Amino acid sequence: MVNDPTGDWQERLARKARLRASAGLRRELRPRGTRDGMVDLAGNDYLGLSRHPAVLAAATTALAQYGLGATGSRLVRGSTDVHAALESGLAGLLGTEAALVYSSGYLANLGAVRALVQPNTLLLSDAFNHASLIDGCRSSGAEIAVYPHGSVPAVEAALAARGDRPALVVTESVFSVDGDLVRLPELHAVCRRYGALLLVDDAHAVGVRGPGGAVAEAGLSGEPDVVVTATLSKSFGAAGGVIAGPRALVAHLVDTGRTFIYDTALPPPVAAGALAALDLIRAGDDLRAEVRERAALIAKRLPTVCEPDAGVVSVRAPGPQEAVAWADACRVRGVAVGCFRPPSTPDSGSRLRLTVNVGVPRADFEAALDTIAECGP
Ligand SMILES: Cc1ncc(COP(=O)(O)O)c(C=O)c1O
Repeated sequence: MVNDPTGDWQERLARKARLRASAGLRRELRPRGTRDGMVDLAGNDYLGLSRHPAVLAAATTALAQYGLGATGSRLVRGSTDVHAALESGLAGLLGTEAALVYSSGYLANLGAVRALVQPNTLLLSDAFNHASLIDGCRSSGAEIAVYPHGSVPAVEAALAARGDRPALVVTESVFSVDGDLVRLPELHAVCRRYGALLLVDDAHAVGVRGPGGAVAEAGLSGEPDVVVTATLSKSFGAAGGVIAGPRALVAHLVDTGRTFIYDTALPPPVAAGALAALDLIRAGDDLRAEVRERAALIAKRLPTVCEPDAGVVSVRAPGPQEAVAWADACRVRGVAVGCFRPPSTPDSGSRLRLTVNVGVPRADFEAALDTIAECGP
C-alpha cells in the first residue's frame, strides 16, 4: 500500500493530540515579554543572577570579543580562555580535579552515564530521576534497574545481589520536581561498601545548598567513586552543563564522549556570564539563606508534597485539569508558576511547582503566595 505522503501521519498526530487534550495533557507555548511584569515562581533563577549587572557585563564583553556562537565544537574550532577559566572555576567550586563544560545539562548527563558504564554494568537509577538521566541510562545500552525513590536499602539489596559486575548508581541530589534531598552520605556509604560508582546530578543544589552543592555539603567532593553533574541553567542563571570528576574522566570524555565531541560548544558569552555568576555564587550565603527562608514560607502556606530542601517546592493539585486551571488563574493575576502533570511528574500526581527566585522583591513574593492560595481549587 502506498502511504499518503501528507495526510496519514499528520492525522495520526492530530488524533493523539486530541487524546492528550481530553486527558488535560496538552502543553502550550505562551509568549514571554522582555520584562513581562510577572512575578517569577516558575523559573530556576534561584539566586536571581540571570540579570545581575556583573553577569551581563561579562557576557557583553565576551560577545564583543568572540561573537555570539562558538561556531563549532571545541575540538574543531578551538577552546577559548573563557571555557578554560569556567572549567577550572567549576572544578574548584565542586571540589574535583577537573571539569568539562557542555552546551546543556541534558547533554552532560547523557555523556556522564555513557562514559561510566561498561558492557556488563548494572545501572541503578532512582525512580524519580530527571529525563536526562533516564535517557542517559537508556542510551548507554547497560542493564537498568529502577529503585524506589530515595531508597538506600533497595540500592544496597541490588548491589549485594549483583555478583561481581560493575555497578553505577545514578541519582539527583535535590529532586527537580518535588525538591527533596536524597540521603547522600548513606547512599555513598553503601556504594563504597559494595564497590559501586555514584553519579550525582547536583543541578538544583549547586549554589543553593552551599556554593558547591549537596555533594560538597555531604563532604563527598573529590571522592574517587563519586562523579558530579550539574547545569548552569539554574543558580548560575545561564545555560550549559558540567561533568566534574577526576582528570582521567575528563580526558576520556574529550576523547570519546559523543555529546561533547559532536556538539557545538557553549557560546562564549554564556560561558563568560556563567563564570561571573560563579564568583557571585561563592559569595552568596545571604542569597542562599533567603532562598531557604522563602521555600519554608511556601511550605507554611500551601499543601506541599514534602518539606523543601532547597529552592523547589511542589504543591499538590487534585488532577491535571485542576493543575492547569490553577496555574492559569495565577498567571492571569500576574504570578508565573510551574504546572507539572504526568508524564513530567515522577508519579501519577499533578502539581504546581513553585521555585524561589530571590531576584523577586520580597513583598511581591509574599503577595504572590496570597494569590496562589486564593486561586487554588
Ligand atoms: C535535575 C536536572 N538535571 C538536568 C537538567 C537539564 O539541564 P539543562 O536544562 O541545562 O539541559 C534539568 C533541567 O533542566 C534538571 O532539572
